[in-house]
Amino acid sequence: MKERIDLTVVGPEVPLTLGIADEFERAGLRIFGPSRLASEIEGSKAFSKGLMARYNIPTARYREFSDPLEARAYVKEIAPPLVVKADGLAAGKGVVICAAEDEALEAIENIMVKKAFGPSGARVVIEEFLEGEEASFLAVTDGKTVVPLAPAQDHKAIYDGDMGPNTGGMGTYSPAPLMTPELEREVMERVMKPMVEAMEAEGRPYRGVLYAGLMIGGVGVKVLEFNCRFGDPETQPIMMRLEDDLFDLLMRAAEGRLAGVRLKWSDKHAVCVVMAAGGYPGDYARGSVISGLDEAGGMEDVMVFHAGTAFKDGHVVTSGGRVLGVTALGNGIKEAIERAYRAVELISWEGAYYRKDIGYKALRRLVR
Ligand code: AMP
Ligand code: GLY
Repeated sequence: MKERIDLTVVGPEVPLTLGIADEFERAGLRIFGPSRLASEIEGSKAFSKGLMARYNIPTARYREFSDPLEARAYVKEIAPPLVVKADGLAAGKGVVICAAEDEALEAIENIMVKKAFGPSGARVVIEEFLEGEEASFLAVTDGKTVVPLAPAQDHKAIYDGDMGPNTGGMGTYSPAPLMTPELEREVMERVMKPMVEAMEAEGRPYRGVLYAGLMIGGVGVKVLEFNCRFGDPETQPIMMRLEDDLFDLLMRAAEGRLAGVRLKWSDKHAVCVVMAAGGYPGDYARGSVISGLDEAGGMEDVMVFHAGTAFKDGHVVTSGGRVLGVTALGNGIKEAIERAYRAVELISWEGAYYRKDIGYKALRRLVR
């Protein structure tokens, strides 16, 4: 109350699924983010899959299980590859892609029996493996009007060439050449608007950012997952390209005044390279002093977004796995890539790691 905060914007999924938006509203404070019931689109994969099935929103075929015996029997019945997913939140680690039956059985054991993710593994979703290329589609909604944000593509794997285990995201670019205007319309009409209408119909009106993780493949668009928040690191390049006032957009969404809003986007391309602590997504060190932040941040059309950093004894130090999102604008994707990496090269700490190939997938698509 002392600071007279007009609007609170919630970043991560955990407070949303615990009901922070409901608490704020009860206290008469304005907040941007879905209610506890609406956040279940991310908080429970079984819930969001069930909703998609009931409202004909395209997604992978699946079944849900709360009994490991039945889950095992199902795996034996259908052919791999398949995907085993813990129902609840698991910080992005509860999804196991299984090329063979024994991997699926092991995933069921870890999630349901050994409870690797605690109560999040009381249920699993087992679904068909989808081929294609992934894209992230974010929209801001007040529960009725759905305003699309510029599409982005993430690089989830830790190593170059999309090798190694998945992370929260190692780099992004926007626009995504994969996402043509026709495809964008299809996603709006078949996924985003129907989802917001479905939530209204279910008595869980959805207000906030609706994030769809999509697989774009031969059979068209399918939803991999929904998130109830901004994506990291999708949001960094999207923000660099937004030419309208973010506060006005989020305030309108929180107050149910989005009707008629259309956003203006820069024609420039934006690329975000995530700098991570060596060892991430496994164990990593904290507390390394970061140098070069002012030089990089001072470059034109460059913004260094902090994620896992802290201030200690007058220095900025690392304090998380993904430490910085170094983001640049350019005339074309090539220039944006080059500028982002010039900025990255100015920044260093002991053990810093980043992928060297962020954006190249987009570049290949454009020159092909
Ligand atoms: P999710 O949290 O459900 O989006 O899953 C995390 C990641 O696992 C996705 O970004 C995809 O890379 C991969 N994934 C999830 N579901 C599938 C699927 N049905 N087919 C192929 N890959 C998948
Ligand atoms: N980059 C994926 C996410 O924010 O969930």
